Amino acid sequence: MTTNNGTGGVLWAGRWGFVLAATGSAVGLGNIWKFPYMTGEYGGGAFVLVYLLCIAAIGVPLMMTEIAFGRRGRGSPVEAVKRVVAESGGASGWAVLGWMSMICGFMILSFYVVVAGWSLSYLWKAISGSLNAESVEGMAAIFNANNENPLNLGFWSTLVTLITMLIVGKGVQEGIERSVRWMMPGMVVMLAILIGFGIFSGGFGQAVHFLFAFEFGQLSGEGLLAAMGHAFFTLSLAAGAIMAYGAYLPAGKSIARTTFMVAICDTLVALMAGLAIFPVIFANGMDPASGPGLIFMSLPLAFAQMPMGTLLEVIFFVMLTMAALTSAISMIEATIAWLVESHGIARNRASWGTGIVLWLVSTLAMLSFNLGADWTLGGRTFFDWLDYLTSRFMMPLGGLGLALLAGFVLKDRLLRDELGLAGVGHALWLFMIRYVCPLAIVVIFIDALGIMTLNVSTQWPWGVAILALFVVVGESLSPRLRRQPAH
Ligand code: PHE
Repeated sequence: MTTNNGTGGVLWAGRWGFVLAATGSAVGLGNIWKFPYMTGEYGGGAFVLVYLLCIAAIGVPLMMTEIAFGRRGRGSPVEAVKRVVAESGGASGWAVLGWMSMICGFMILSFYVVVAGWSLSYLWKAISGSLNAESVEGMAAIFNANNENPLNLGFWSTLVTLITMLIVGKGVQEGIERSVRWMMPGMVVMLAILIGFGIFSGGFGQAVHFLFAFEFGQLSGEGLLAAMGHAFFTLSLAAGAIMAYGAYLPAGKSIARTTFMVAICDTLVALMAGLAIFPVIFANGMDPASGPGLIFMSLPLAFAQMPMGTLLEVIFFVMLTMAALTSAISMIEATIAWLVESHGIARNRASWGTGIVLWLVSTLAMLSFNLGADWTLGGRTFFDWLDYLTSRFMMPLGGLGLALLAGFVLKDRLLRDELGLAGVGHALWLFMIRYVCPLAIVVIFIDALGIMTLNVSTQWPWGVAILALFVVVGESLSPRLRRQPAH
């Protein structure tokens, strides 16, 4: 039985409400800012291949699970996880997964607003004509100058924080749904225009080769973990966002179909962004491995050389800012929903209060680029730590926990009802969630932490054998792991 108590009966209003909001969450700076620079740093094709495999094998089944948890629990992730666990008579300790997701979303937003602030400030620069350097060095100088003054950088990240909290404060339908309804189509049109230009810029062939020439040997264990972490990040998994949105999904909508739609859109946008960005990088002889500043230093330079460059620049940064906002609102929805549901705080007040805390933490992240550049631990700034901890650890580990919970602890009937898949579909989902997701996540950790160096091309028979062993053990144990419901 599905109850509406936790969310007060709030649901997405329009037919496309959930799809637009979830796609808006997934498609963001991760696709357009992070994916290109990570691909550049980890050497291209091999990174892309692992990322795509992780999306298909881990991301899709987990996203389905998260939506199902949200809809079944009808509440903020903290409450939703508690409810589904209680419904199955599972141990209350599993509730930690809901908490971790919510905190993870908050942590991501704390550094995300800084990057979104870069985007907004560049939009302003584009409009006012001050992105006018004529060399990569000149563009790098503009990027650095923009970071140097905490008042300047802080102004932009504060603005992003304000806009985000204003939208979220207005509510699910009036704020979130209404904003994504026009931002998402707008983004697609703008991206299409940009790719059109990319194709004619001269570096298109080289970009295709860079993105799709898979050379497996090149990828380090660290790169493997980065690719998996990025698959989580880009699909907004284990960060409360998708589960929170799932709580507003009307009964009867197909979770599998919506998940595929979101995952395909997200992947296409990342690849399209790569195809729009790398041609200009190569056509201008720039280094694809120039880190987080990649799109801010290289693209404006390329735009400057194109006909109608300023217009394209404006289009690009409007699109990037909108992509960032539709993701930002999803990161904080879990916290707001929790404050409203569990503490009875009015939505508007919850969002102002959260905004203040967020502003404080994000200001510390913003300072990583100027005053606090030296406040490092293990070579990482506060900004770097937020990104590193969430993407490399909290999301994959949260995903591992959710997969184990869904695969072995919850009553089979519960997720079967919620997912509503036919026989083979359900069996496939269960197989992925029970065995493939956990094993893949653990193996990548083993490799990345240097516990063992893995070589896929020679050791894959071992992998298959271990998977088979897990399936045999898991299938024989699972009836005992699943407790009977209390009632
Ligand atoms: N998926 C978003 C992006 O690619 C980031 C995100 C992470 C959003 C976690 C919500 C939760 O930019």
